[in-house]
Amino acid sequence: MAISRSLRLLILAITGSSAAPRVLPRVLPRASEICYGESMSLFCYKEPNGTPQNVDVADVKYIGAYLRHYGRQNPNKPAFYTMLAPDTPDCAEWGLYTRGSAQALAKHIGEKTNTSVLYEDIANTIDGGESPTDASKAAAIIGCLSDGGSLGVLTNASNPAYHTTDYTSSGYTLSGILVKIVAAAPVS
Ligand SMILES: *[C@@H]1O[C@H](CO)[C@@H](O)[C@H](O)[C@H]1NC(C)=O
Ligand SMILES: *[C@@H]1O[C@H](CO)[C@@H](O)[C@H](O)[C@H]1NC(C)=O
Repeated sequence: MAISRSLRLLILAITGSSAAPRVLPRVLPRASEICYGESMSLFCYKEPNGTPQNVDVADVKYIGAYLRHYGRQNPNKPAFYTMLAPDTPDCAEWGLYTRGSAQALAKHIGEKTNTSVLYEDIANTIDGGESPTDASKAAAIIGCLSDGGSLGVLTNASNPAYHTTDYTSSGYTLSGILVKIVAAAPVS
């Protein structure tokens, strides 16, 4: 049972990335450890409540820029990142992108919702925006510096992409995805 579930998620990850073969090479399903207990507010992995991840801030910045670029490849159709309830049992956590010391993960907290957000918003959640200010960086995961951390996607609900007929008729919601910056898995 567990294996078939993993396989299904793997197939989903592969299918998902086939629309964009090169750009997201590390989309992998990850078993989630816990479903609840993680806040959508900014949480830095600092002692005593967190374990510092020792990531290089330059890698975090790169990941943000990469995901923003990915989201904008088609200027007329900004890319969405979607986590459907049936595909994400137990608050599944999927890899978004890995760079050097750091990896970005997306965890689906909304067990009963289908969540879909712009890559652009995921990028902003990580790096505080394309031309960030000190305040926007402090409010984003990059504000956790080398510790890494987590934050619910900061969606910009006024983006017209959330107001298309496609989006509004999909039944998708903007809330429910927690983004994390953690240490990249050790190379084996
Ligand atoms: C979520 O998506 C699945 C698969 O498309 C669908 O069966 C389900 O009804 C949707 N749930 C909600 C709450 O929209
Ligand atoms: C949100 O989106 C609107 C419409 O695209 C844009 O004008 C505004 O600058 C965006 N806000 C932020 C904080 O990015």
